[in-house]
Amino acid sequence: MKLFIISMKILVTGGAGFIGSHLVDKLIAKNHRVVIVDNLAAGKKEFLNKKAKFYKLDIVNPGLNKIFKKEKPEIVFHLAAQKSVPYSLKYPLEDASINVLGSVNVIENSLSAKVKKLIFTSTGGAIYGQTKLIPSPESTPENPDSPYGLNKLTVDKYLKNYYSRVKNLNYVSLRLANVYGPRQDPAGEAGVVAIFINNLLKNKQCFINGSGQQTRDFVYVGDVVDSCIKSINKGQGIYNIGTSQETSINQLYQMISKLIADQKARHRKAIPGEVFRSVLKSNKAKRELSWESKIDLKSGIKRTTKYFQEL
Ligand SMILES: NC(=O)c1ccc[n+]([C@@H]2O[C@H](COP(=O)([O-])OP(=O)(O)OC[C@H]3O[C@@H](n4cnc5c(N)ncnc54)[C@H](O)[C@@H]3O)[C@@H](O)[C@H]2O)c1
Repeated sequence: MKLFIISMKILVTGGAGFIGSHLVDKLIAKNHRVVIVDNLAAGKKEFLNKKAKFYKLDIVNPGLNKIFKKEKPEIVFHLAAQKSVPYSLKYPLEDASINVLGSVNVIENSLSAKVKKLIFTSTGGAIYGQTKLIPSPESTPENPDSPYGLNKLTVDKYLKNYYSRVKNLNYVSLRLANVYGPRQDPAGEAGVVAIFINNLLKNKQCFINGSGQQTRDFVYVGDVVDSCIKSINKGQGIYNIGTSQETSINQLYQMISKLIADQKARHRKAIPGEVFRSVLKSNKAKRELSWESKIDLKSGIKRTTKYFQEL
C-alpha cells in the first residue's frame, strides 16, 4: 500500500524520549503536523520539539480517546514504553500494564480513528533471546526470557493475529537492534554506548559485565528514524532493523576509549541469563522498506561523542 501525501497529521507516543524526539524532529522537518503523547516518565521536556503539540498523558489512561477524537491523526507511531529489561524483571506488573495494556489502548484508539497506518517499535534481541541463528532473521524462533521481551512479542502478535488479520489495520512493527546516538540516557543500565562515552568524558571508571565477549548489533538512531519514515509509505508486518554487524562489548569499549581517553575498563560479574550474541538480519527491511543502515559504528560513535561533549 502506498500513501503519497505530503503533509499529514501524525501522532507519536513517546515523542519526548530518545528515539521518539529524533523521529518528531524529522517528521516536522518534512512538514508533517505532529502531536506527541508522553507522560515524561523517561522523556525530557527539553527534547520536545516546539512545533509539535504536546499532551502529557499516560498511554494507559482511558482519556487517550479524547486526544484521538480531537486530533484525528492519519498515522500513529507508537514508541511509548517502559524500555528497561532489568526494570521489567523487578516490576513485571507495571511493565505489562504500560507495554501491553497501554499498547492495546493506543491500537484500539488508532482503529477507532481509522488511521492509515500504525507503526510500532518492537525489539529484536529481547524477543529472539539466545539463538544459534546469527544474524537472526524475522523467522528466528521467538524465545523471550524477560517480561519486557514477552510483552513486546505480545503486542507484535496482537498486531499480526488480531488487529491486522481480523480488523484490517495497516501496521508495521520494527524490531529494533541496540539503538544508540545523541540524547540516549547515560544514567540507566541500558545504553552501553552512552554510558561508556559519558564516563570516559567525565574521567569515570567504566565497567564491563562479564568477559565482554558478548556481542550486540549497534544501530544509529538516525538510521532507526529513517526506517520509521520509510514505514509510512512502505511495508506491512514485522521487520528487523539492525546492521548485521556483530560487535563485542570489548571491541566497542576499545573503539570509544581510543577516541576519548585511553583508560582501561574493569570487568565485573556477568549479568545472569544475559543474551550472549544478538545480531539482526535486516534483508526483509531492505527488500520491502528500501531501508538499510547507513551510519557505521565509528561515525555514529563520533557523532554521539560530539553531542555529549557539547552538553
Ligand atoms: N533504545 C533501544 O535500544 C531500543 C531497542 C529496541 C526497542 N526500543 C523501543 O523503542 C521505543 C523507544 O525507546 P527509547 O530508547 O527512545 O526509550 P525512552 O525511554 O527514551 O522513550 C520512551 C518514551 O515513552 C515515554 N513513556 C514511558 N511510559 C509511558 C506511559 N505509560 N505513557 C506515556 N508515555 C510513556 C517516556 O517518557 C519516554 O519519553 C520503545 O518502545 C522501546 O521499547 C528501543
